This record gives sequence, structure tokens and C-alpha cells, in this order.
Amino acid sequence: MIKAAVMGYGTIGSGVAEVLEQNKDVIKQRAGQEIALKYVLDLREFPDSPVADKIIHDFKVIEEDEEIRIVVETMGGLNPAYSFVKSCLLAGKHVVTSNKALVAAHGTELLAIARQRHVNFLFEASVGGGIPIIRPLYRCLGGEQIEEITGILNGTTNYILTKMDKEGESFENALREAQNLGYAERNPEADVEGYDTCRKIAILTAMAVGKEVNFENIYTEGITKITDIDFKYAEKMGTSVKLFGTSRIRKGRVSAYVAPVMIGKDHPLYSVSDVFNGILVKGNMLGPAMFYGSGAGKLPTASAVVADMIEAAQNPDSHVPMGWTDEKQTIEPIETARFRFFVRIAGSYRNKEEDVKNFFGNVDVYELYGLDEFAVLTGEMAEGDFRRAAASFDAKEQAKSDFGIKQTIRAVL
Ligand code: HSE
Repeated sequence: MIKAAVMGYGTIGSGVAEVLEQNKDVIKQRAGQEIALKYVLDLREFPDSPVADKIIHDFKVIEEDEEIRIVVETMGGLNPAYSFVKSCLLAGKHVVTSNKALVAAHGTELLAIARQRHVNFLFEASVGGGIPIIRPLYRCLGGEQIEEITGILNGTTNYILTKMDKEGESFENALREAQNLGYAERNPEADVEGYDTCRKIAILTAMAVGKEVNFENIYTEGITKITDIDFKYAEKMGTSVKLFGTSRIRKGRVSAYVAPVMIGKDHPLYSVSDVFNGILVKGNMLGPAMFYGSGAGKLPTASAVVADMIEAAQNPDSHVPMGWTDEKQTIEPIETARFRFFVRIAGSYRNKEEDVKNFFGNVDVYELYGLDEFAVLTGEMAEGDFRRAAASFDAKEQAKSDFGIKQTIRAVL
């Protein structure tokens, strides 16, 4: 039998206790021994919960109990998660976490400590909720040079965009529903501004290249400026808008971004809807592979945590090589990335295509009935070139009131 502790009895922590209990037999069989939950650390009491007799409030109890070999961190945030996790690793305990903020900010240091102490720091649940993606990257795809990872990596924003697209729901209502369903971060900004996706694509990129990726160097744009009108155009164009986290890796150069992207029905991620996440991985030998499933929520995420606990239980005295070193990976500036651009332009023009063409080259034009605006889709161009063209277009239009660019969405079509 191996003893474990859970730090943080929120949505995921309580899910871990539930999975450990409900799937006890199969977990024992796979881990080669029983995984017994000894403590649950939380500031609160849970008198009516199944773990009422395991609740403790003092971290030292876990740190100093040599019987505890696996510690699960499901508190979220950086403080005190970082200092608790570091202390556990230094004390020679395996740590399993679902905390992407922690892994993105301190993963390099925590992985190094795990290596030195011959324990494991595992974080399958930090990306894609219940979808296996971290372990496939270091095990099943171990023989690949990864060339691209593109993911719908945030369940909350995918839920919101799906509701806006399919049901015409307002942004605010859809966000409230996602919060009620337990998908959203404590601070919804982390979801809707793309910060959560940014940390996840940083982790996946670091796994793919084996070097540290500073998430602050990844261009990040959220979904707050996407409107119902954008979805009306998208419907007419046979497209949809999804929040992508993307990383392209070629000969050691990495181009990465987080942004809402317009995609067509033939894109492998088009039908990833609601809270589901989808991750497209391209390997140089394999070609494309898709990972799809529940990207957020109590039991799916808890299931990924428990799988890591099993990995730790199977390797109680050894470090399983995975992760990245402290060598830094440079991220190319977003200006060099190439997209098509969907652009909504306010005002009436006599010859739309000609007026716009002088700035953006050949475009497709789209109109919606009853609106004093139109939209164009440019050909593929570098983001830097597009920005310069958009700035001079707007400068020319400034003289006329209510004219100019109202909206821009990158398109992969
Ligand atoms: N808030 C996150 C999401 C939780 O919506 O995907 C899972 O990381």
C-alpha cells in the first residue's frame, strides 16, 4: 500500500477522492498496490463529506509524515501551491498536480528538483482536463519530432463560443452557465482573456521541444471582442470561430500564439464543441494525430490526476524522464506568423473590393442584410504586413466618421 495526501478539496480535489474510491479495485490492480488517501489539506471543514476524518489544516503534517509518498496538489494558483509543492519534492515525495499556472511558471525548477531527488513531478491534468496529452508526448510520440500542436485548450471559452454560435446566447449568459457547471477558473479573466490557454500551450510546447518556454513571450488574445455579428458572418461563410493555442516548430524555431481563429468545416478542430477540448499534434513521421475529450470538469480532470498517481506508485523509487530542461526556447514574434484575415469594415463603399484591394491585395467580400458594414477575407499574409496595411487603411478612413475597421479575426481557411 502507498499513502497519499490531497492538498485542496475543491472541484478537482474532491473528484480525486471520488475516483480513488469508486475505481479502487482497478487502480490497485494497475498501480500494483493500493493507493490509500491519508490526508486532505484544506482551510475548510467538510463534516458531511466522505473524507471528513482525513481533513487537516496544517501543511507540515503532510511534509513531515514519511508515510506519505504521493502528494496531489489541486489548490490552484501559485501561493501557497508553489512553496508546498517544492517542499514536498525536496522531502522526497512524488507530486501530482492539475495546476497549469504552477507548471507554466515554476515547472522548470520543480522538474529539476524531482530529477535530483529521484521522484516524479507529474501534471497530466494541467492540460486538456481528462484528455491524455502530456504522457503521449513523452511516451507514445517519443520517436517523433513534433512540428505543430494546435489545440482548443479551454473548456470554458469553447463552451461560450459554442453557445454564441449555435444558440445565439450572449457572452455573459454563456459564461455564467460555464461557471455554474464548474468549468471556469476562479477568476474568469484567466479563461476569457486566453491566459489559461496560453499557459497550456506553453506547457505543451516545452514538452515538445524539451526546453523552457516562457508563457509571457506567447502572443495572447482572448474572446471578449467576439460578437454575435461575427458569428452571423461565420454562418454565411460556412465557418466558425474557436480559441486556438498554436505552436509551430521548425528546425528549432518556435512560432506560438493564442487567439480566436476563424476555421472552416474541413478543419479537424471544427467540430470540437461545448466544454470539449481537441488537440491536433503533427509529428514528422506520424503526420497528424487528434486528441479529443472532456477538457474541464471534476471527474475527467480527477481521472487524469489519478492516472499520474498510478504512474508514481509504479515508480516509487525512480524518476521517470519527462519534461524539459532549463535551456530557454525563443518564441518568434507574432508579426512573422502568416494568416488570412477576416476584417469587418464600417460604412458604405461604392466599390468595396477595389477600395480594399489597394491595401490588402485580393479579397473575398461578404455582406449581411441590413448592416451598414461589410466584411472581407484577405489572402494569406504575414501578421506584420497585415497590421501595416490595416493602419494605413484606417488612417485614410479617419476623415470620414463611422468608417474604418471594426473587427479583425485571424483565419485559417
Ligand atoms: N478553466 C479551465 C477550462 C479548466 O475551462 O478549460 C480546465 O483547465
